[in-house]
Amino acid sequence: MTQTHFGFQTVDAAEKAQRVRGVFDSVASRYDVMNDLLSLGMHRLWKAYTVAVANVQPGDKVLDIAGGTGDLALAFAPQAGERGTVVHTDINEAMLRTGRDRLLDAGIALPTITCDAERLPFADGGFDLVSVAFGLRNMTDKDRALAEMCRVLRPGGRLLVLEFSQPAEALRKPYDWYSFKVMPLLGKWVAKDAESYRYLAESIRMHPDQATLKAMMKSAGFGHVDVHNLAAGVVALHVGVKC
Ligand SMILES: C[S@@+](CC[C@H](N)C(=O)[O-])C[C@H]1O[C@@H](n2cnc3c(N)ncnc32)[C@H](O)[C@@H]1O
Repeated sequence: MTQTHFGFQTVDAAEKAQRVRGVFDSVASRYDVMNDLLSLGMHRLWKAYTVAVANVQPGDKVLDIAGGTGDLALAFAPQAGERGTVVHTDINEAMLRTGRDRLLDAGIALPTITCDAERLPFADGGFDLVSVAFGLRNMTDKDRALAEMCRVLRPGGRLLVLEFSQPAEALRKPYDWYSFKVMPLLGKWVAKDAESYRYLAESIRMHPDQATLKAMMKSAGFGHVDVHNLAAGVVALHVGVKC
């Protein structure tokens, strides 16, 4: 059986999705508050930057993958407007339900679909924009997921991947200390779940760096890929164009 990573552990590929599901089942109800706490609110700036780069126009068809509690879908929906569509998707029902409730509380009703990014239930070429924020590193077969994202985009459509990446050299030691000492402790105190936040830190370290992800996106069918480093590379936004 194929082996893959779940954080720093090597597990069977079939087991990873179940373990990732366990993490997000466990964190769903406190996901937003923990996100603000652990990133000191910076995830809002990274997402605002992503929304600005996305530049969604009235009438656009947008697919948000691994959309979780709905931050990007919330921002894209008013921009796509009544003529457009924003489809909010995730593999995890607990995360998706939390997101759908937030969207409904904001007066926004969107198609909300449980699906695996590695097997997207959408026809070829139907979307102008696909986004995935902090989701790709949790996927078992990232190449397959990227190929699926490319397949559902129209020619000229763009994929935006917002994800943790490799920070500048000078930041690495303090960032390691924060990730492996502080994050699990905050997870334990606030979310009563140190393990999930240890996985978060480990999964970030195992995720491909900027250049590797760019090469993966090109292999998946994106003719042009730009990389925008944010917070000195702690996070990167990769923008791929399906040529
Ligand atoms: C860290 S959360 C990000 C949520 C949201 N996009 C955000 O930025 O706040 C990662 C999400 O990826 C989802 N996910 C993991 N593997 C997935 C897969 N194979 N297909 C779709 N979603 C997946 C998880 O269920 C989880 O909701």
